[in-house]
Amino acid sequence: MERHIPVLLNEVLSFLEIRPGMRILDGTLGLGGHAEAMLLAAQAAGIGDAALLGLDRDEQALDRARERLLPFGERAECVRAAFSGVAEVLRLKGWETVDFALADIGVSSLQLDSPDRGFSFLADGPLDMRMDQSGGMTAARLVNQAPFADLRRILAVFGEEPLAGRIAKAIVETRAREPILTTGRLARLVEAAYPGRWRATARNHPARRAFQALRMEVNNELAELEAFLRAIAPRLAPRGRLAVIAFHSLEDRLVKHFFRSEAEGRPGRAPSLRLLTRKPLGASAGERAANPRSRSARLRVAQRM
Ligand SMILES: C[S@@+](CC[C@H](N)C(=O)[O-])C[C@H]1O[C@@H](n2cnc3c(N)ncnc32)[C@H](O)[C@@H]1O
Repeated sequence: MERHIPVLLNEVLSFLEIRPGMRILDGTLGLGGHAEAMLLAAQAAGIGDAALLGLDRDEQALDRARERLLPFGERAECVRAAFSGVAEVLRLKGWETVDFALADIGVSSLQLDSPDRGFSFLADGPLDMRMDQSGGMTAARLVNQAPFADLRRILAVFGEEPLAGRIAKAIVETRAREPILTTGRLARLVEAAYPGRWRATARNHPARRAFQALRMEVNNELAELEAFLRAIAPRLAPRGRLAVIAFHSLEDRLVKHFFRSEAEGRPGRAPSLRLLTRKPLGASAGERAANPRSRSARLRVAQRM
């Protein structure tokens, strides 16, 4: 399997203000690419006591990250948890504050490239899409049980899919005949719901938006992101930084509004964050060419007052 390339790595590292004894929280360990690079950067700066706490809700990702971070010994701890559990993880670790927090949200290449995880419309596999496979609703359950109106809303809102109604109708009609259990079946069904002229001119696979939408619903991604921002912002140390890489306009908008409202403050509440990126940073031309996934990545960083 291809090695995961951390997105916007140089940009993230440029915001990492290395200090002795610093505490780094990586909310999305994935394959440990950013985590490893941050610890190496601290080491290269002569800071050998920087510690990293990394989370992921995907057990397979955690195994990979643990292996990669083994050389850092006890300075790197990897914990299975979702964003919504981050406050509890920090409490158990005894970290009241963190100096740098990163969330590189979305799916990892490990998840996308493993057909058995059900994230990819390009390879056939079970219609799963759960980042945390220990429980919760699979995409198959959602696709086969959700009412038409819910499917249409999910496709329209999370997928920004102009043909949401048509695709939801095709799903409901197909499942009345036989359950939709594989990614291949769903991808073909979505493709067939697209009028021929749309298919011919589409820049991306017709199923891309639908798969993204279902994945966001299955993993409750927007609510999780909001929970992370709300938990971490008040736990940043003075001058501590929070960096978020989003791949979807809804996620980026959520981060932008959260950062702005914290930076503006409210009546009776002083501003708590300062924006370090007025506009989100995107990948360089070189990175875009080397890693197509980086094309939609947007990095925003804010600093505790
Ligand atoms: C894009 S990958 C991160 C890649 C990582 N930065 C690297 O360099 O290897 C995103 C990871 O975040 C995890 N993730 C996404 N949403 C999460 C959530 N709400 N809670 C915990 N982990 C989450 C996914 O399981 C996935 O492994």
